[in-house]
Amino acid sequence: MGDARPAFLMCPPDLYEVDYVINPWMEGNVHHSSRERAAQQWQELHNALRQAADVLLVNPQPGSPDMVFTANAGLVRDGIVALSSFHHVERQGEEPHFRKWFTDSGFAIREIPRATAFEGEGDALFDSNGQRLWAGHGLRTRAASHRFLNETWDVEVLSLGLVDPRFYHLDTCFCPLSNGDVMYYPPAFDEPSRALIEAHYRKPNRIIVEEADAVRFACNAVNVDRMLLLNEISAQLCAELEGRGFSVVQIQLSEFLKAGGAAKCLVLRLSKPAVN
Ligand code: ARG
Repeated sequence: MGDARPAFLMCPPDLYEVDYVINPWMEGNVHHSSRERAAQQWQELHNALRQAADVLLVNPQPGSPDMVFTANAGLVRDGIVALSSFHHVERQGEEPHFRKWFTDSGFAIREIPRATAFEGEGDALFDSNGQRLWAGHGLRTRAASHRFLNETWDVEVLSLGLVDPRFYHLDTCFCPLSNGDVMYYPPAFDEPSRALIEAHYRKPNRIIVEEADAVRFACNAVNVDRMLLLNEISAQLCAELEGRGFSVVQIQLSEFLKAGGAAKCLVLRLSKPAVN
């Protein structure tokens, strides 16, 4: 069975908490999330993902409440991880824990210099055929880190400038889909970046997300083949996605939205070959 299944990394929310403010979603939410509800919501996501994939776990660590957002651990491909170098000191304590997990699990480590912040798959998404890497910059990741990604995998990197502080990571507003479509929220990008997206995806392949769904983290979706896991979205967007052949699984992730994250942030794709 196992071989065709993709693998993902998650971190149980036992120590999850909104402890500080490093994005607009966290404002007013410090210590306002429920650990019990967070545990239920995370478990539901974990169960759904396990239907289609192998899910590995990294242990949560004291002092790193945002470690549940494993998408920010690094970017993985072909058994190599480009390890994140977090922009905010609040998250830098996660780095040694993720480094240890990847080392112990047999991944080759590519360090990204502190001077050029890089926040992993949260800011770097491969398109459906894996030939192109879309990389965000502006609010967390520095544009200058993108060349390390290009050097690591010899892949074409297309840089996208983020301008809305609510959509501070690329995976909060941009989601390349397995069928070659892209789902995104255009106002989160500067004008040249919008043009770049339009140059690479034909109009019929662009699913434009409205603000009401964007702020529900609709673009923050985990896509495995035809399955899409995401927070609750509008009936209209759901119908649009189903019309394109996706099976949409909505999971209430309210407790994680309080920290500025949803489904995709809680999950990191691992390259199958390096996983035992
Ligand atoms: N509180 C976390 C932060 O601000 C949330 C991270 C969300 N992760 C993501 N991949 N968008 O860093």
